[in-house]
Amino acid sequence: MGPQSKKKIGSFRLTMRFIVPLVIAMTLLAYALLPLVDKLTLHWFTHDLDIRSQLIANTIQEPIGEFLEQGNMARINSLIRRVIKDERLFAMGFCDGKGTLHYSTPKFPKDISCPDPNLPSPEKPSILKLPNGMVHVAVKPVLVAEKPSGYLFLIHDMSFIESRSADTRKYIVLFFVILFLVIAFITVLVAHLSWRGWMSAVRSLLRGESDVKPLTKGSYAELQPLMGDLRSLLRTIDAEKRFADDVTIFWSPDKLRELLRKQLAGEQILVVSNREPYIHMKGKEGIEINRPASGLVTAVEPVMKACSGTWIAHGGGTADREVVDKNDHVNIPPERPKYTLRRIWLSREEEKGYYYGFANEGLWPLCHIAHVRPIFRTSDWQHYVKINQRFADAVVKEANREDPVVLVQDYHFALLPSMLRKILPKSTIITFWHIPWPNPESFGICPWREELLQGMLGSTILGFHTPFHCKNFLETVDRYLETRIEHASSTISHGGNLTLVEAYPISIQWPPPWQDSQPSVAECRAEIRKFLKIDENCLIALGVDRMDYTKGILERLRAVESLLENHPEMVGRFSLVQIGAPTRSILEEYQAFEARVRALTARINQRFASGAYQPVYLKVEHHEPEDVNSYYRAADVCMVTSLHDGMNLVAKEYIASRDDERGVLLLSQFTGAAHELYEALIVNPYHIEQTANALYQALTMPEFEQRERMHSMRLMVRDFNVFRWAGRMLIDASKIRQREKLAARIGAEI
Ligand code: G6P
Repeated sequence: MGPQSKKKIGSFRLTMRFIVPLVIAMTLLAYALLPLVDKLTLHWFTHDLDIRSQLIANTIQEPIGEFLEQGNMARINSLIRRVIKDERLFAMGFCDGKGTLHYSTPKFPKDISCPDPNLPSPEKPSILKLPNGMVHVAVKPVLVAEKPSGYLFLIHDMSFIESRSADTRKYIVLFFVILFLVIAFITVLVAHLSWRGWMSAVRSLLRGESDVKPLTKGSYAELQPLMGDLRSLLRTIDAEKRFADDVTIFWSPDKLRELLRKQLAGEQILVVSNREPYIHMKGKEGIEINRPASGLVTAVEPVMKACSGTWIAHGGGTADREVVDKNDHVNIPPERPKYTLRRIWLSREEEKGYYYGFANEGLWPLCHIAHVRPIFRTSDWQHYVKINQRFADAVVKEANREDPVVLVQDYHFALLPSMLRKILPKSTIITFWHIPWPNPESFGICPWREELLQGMLGSTILGFHTPFHCKNFLETVDRYLETRIEHASSTISHGGNLTLVEAYPISIQWPPPWQDSQPSVAECRAEIRKFLKIDENCLIALGVDRMDYTKGILERLRAVESLLENHPEMVGRFSLVQIGAPTRSILEEYQAFEARVRALTARINQRFASGAYQPVYLKVEHHEPEDVNSYYRAADVCMVTSLHDGMNLVAKEYIASRDDERGVLLLSQFTGAAHELYEALIVNPYHIEQTANALYQALTMPEFEQRERMHSMRLMVRDFNVFRWAGRMLIDASKIRQREKLAARIGAEI
């Protein structure tokens, strides 16, 4: 049986549940009322006949009196014959004062006799049952000189009462039938509307909406107490489940695969990001494969390896076109393919407008409060819109079902969620914003702020690194858009779509990929020092960043300078190794930044270098992740001094690399990581002396303290790894999908 027939049967049953009791109640009422109505009509008509009899008696009393006085009985008879012509009068009779029936009309009943002259005259009329019906008998005295001198019988036919009573009964039954129909119609209508209202409220609740709109005013006001209970029950279940997961589940690739198998069985997973995980470049010896320096790629790649979906990204490498098939697909990782990369091509102009312009000169500085002014150009915006649409269309093309799970990455695709929602309304869109979200005032300077927010609200889930970024986002939406925000459940209702805004702190793969193949810490220490020509006893602080003004590299250099000034004993005994991955270098701001970093490095080196000693080693070039890992293992301190950073995975990578539980992490308070890694030395990078002091503390930290801190941070990174990040988002997505499916089923039942 199809859902439509089930729906019809459901409605019929529902209707019958109202109608049957109504029919019974109406029938009982009608049966109770009918005898009452009979009695009442009889009473009314008898009363009418009384009055009528009195009226006729009064009218003919005078002439009869006169005829009596004259002794003219013939005139009395003739008067009575005239009166009897009235169709209601059944019979009449006249008794003289001595009790003799003097005259009677033909139908006068035989068993009626004249009143006894010795008894008081009968006053009250009576009802007599004759073989062919009932009659009303009124006896009226005829007065002559104030004395009763005879009696007039006025007998009315009562058969008309019966026929009127029957008519009344008919009308009453008709009235009840109509009343029943009207009540039934109104009842069914109200019940139907209320039912739909309740169902829609329960469905919205299941979908996670907490502020649901009634179909008609107050149509489910009576459900409100129950809704509150249901809502808190769902929240408790969610919270308990999440807590249980957090405490008991160890997240690994296998666990993630199991989750996909059990909770998202058969669902298609698609990832969209601007940066691709593998870049094919034309090198001197043929095609080379590069791994980009990108926190996003670091996090998403292990998840994709675990769930084998399709990753859609910009093919920006010089040899990217050469390795794809006719569908622009290439299977990766190259050495052991696990998933598909679908490349999207951009012209130079499009890349300039969408990526360099709107994304990196506009949104990047807008979201990172790092004192670089955002630049917004209409032409960049137009490219941004166009490229978002191009990626959305590619998702649709790659989707092999109407409801894929799409993981949209970062600020390059703020518009894509709502574009996709329009074409694939049933898709589950998880958007993750890898960079900070600013306060509403800062965000408000963007000329296209409403469009960006609307675009993002096409997502099913919108993830940020920290609750603070979520709070900023909710406040921004509240300031600039007409939406319904439910703070208790952290959801936003906009244009018929519901978005859950949640914090999912990103992390790295655990165990680290080179755990089993990496050289020992001692080997790494020796190797790196040898490579850089640093004395083997020299302490090394390491910085690993893209050459980006948000990373606080200038502040870090100033702190190193301050340390060397204030602790001259460190000169010759300590160096900073700064790895700077080239990034966005066609932008002026980045070129100027790199120049400033180089100039400051040169100044510090000039001031403090002596002989073979060099205080700062600046290496602005691409490093493969395995090489970076060797640097981590060789360093005594890792310096992360970002001025603002969504999470910063360098901090977590450093911790993961230190299986010897040595080394100290110095961490900016303005990173998302500082909300999780409490055992790091937390600094304000703008405060140069404070950072320098922390650096000194790190360089001189006793080994046992290093071990304590590192041990605790390693447990944290181990448990809160990237598989948990993805797993928690996918669990939330699967819960929402289950609720939506349930809500759709309820929808089909009503
Ligand atoms: C940040 C962004 C990523 C980006 C990465 C590297 O981590 O959140 O989206 O991929 O920087 O930047 P790039 O512009 O080189 O991709």
